[in-house]
Amino acid sequence: MKRHLLSAADLSRDDAELVLRTAEELRSLADRPIKKLPALRGRTVVNLFFEDSTRTRISFEAAAKRLSADVINFAAKGSSLSKGESLKDTALTLEAMGADAIVVRHAASGAPHRLATAGWTGSSVINAGDGTHEHPTQALLDAFTMWRHLGALDGRRVAIVGDVLHSRVARSNALLLRTLGAEVTLVAPPTLLPVGVDGWNVETSYDVDSVLPKADVVMMLRVQGERMNASYFPTVREYSRRYGLDARRMAQLQDHTIVMHPGPMVRGMEITADVADSSRSVIVEQVTNGVAVRMAVLYLLLGGSEPAGTTERDAA
Ligand code: NCD
Repeated sequence: MKRHLLSAADLSRDDAELVLRTAEELRSLADRPIKKLPALRGRTVVNLFFEDSTRTRISFEAAAKRLSADVINFAAKGSSLSKGESLKDTALTLEAMGADAIVVRHAASGAPHRLATAGWTGSSVINAGDGTHEHPTQALLDAFTMWRHLGALDGRRVAIVGDVLHSRVARSNALLLRTLGAEVTLVAPPTLLPVGVDGWNVETSYDVDSVLPKADVVMMLRVQGERMNASYFPTVREYSRRYGLDARRMAQLQDHTIVMHPGPMVRGMEITADVADSSRSVIVEQVTNGVAVRMAVLYLLLGGSEPAGTTERDAA
């Protein structure tokens, strides 16, 4: 593993599989009455969130605490400094406090990369979502969830449906899933597919109904209204009718096919409540798995002492 996790493309197949295997060992901790290991005792993890988040921030916090790290939560939203300056000043402050890892979410694509490479900090930087760019730990937890349900992902077909244009989840998933040998189809209206998607090494489609029957995994994405400065589809009703996952569409899926969503969901828009709460839905499991995967990432990047049961790993 490299020192930072900025992009899903930073992960070789071996790295990704090491994270998944480590997460599997750490996941069992969630079922124990005392959910804590001493692996990162004395280490400091800073959660630096410049943008709103519920599950990702809590998930990183739970992960760091379960490994006995000290956790500092820094919600930087509302800062009046320009982004470049505030990021640098904040990084210097955190450096002075001796942070070992900085988990950063920022509205600007590339902010975590800048933080990692500008020489402001010696910490490991973990990208927890940067603008419309990447969200590598989400892709890892999604791959982990698929892997637990389907086994090896080679040749598995994953349909990612919705606002791909604004989705860092879609980009990171496409990269990681290709690394792990899965076939990816991005399904969206033409206005919500990114320019340059031809270079992603994935299939694209505008027609969800032709893709669903072949999929082993259907991942629904939220329409990211907060990142839209124009009108990308006529009405919500029209969007739901063409691209939403409802019971009728769910009936086209193969028996083993699972339905995923990174959250937050807009029930009734991209997914109906009955689908979200159905037995195919693994959405709540994704959240549980997120903690185990982030524990694995922190553990592997910070090179903590052996967790119980882990036999071998790279010395970071
Ligand atoms: C996503 C994000 O923030 O990129 N959510 C998440 O991290 N679980 C997707 C979204 O906001 O729709």
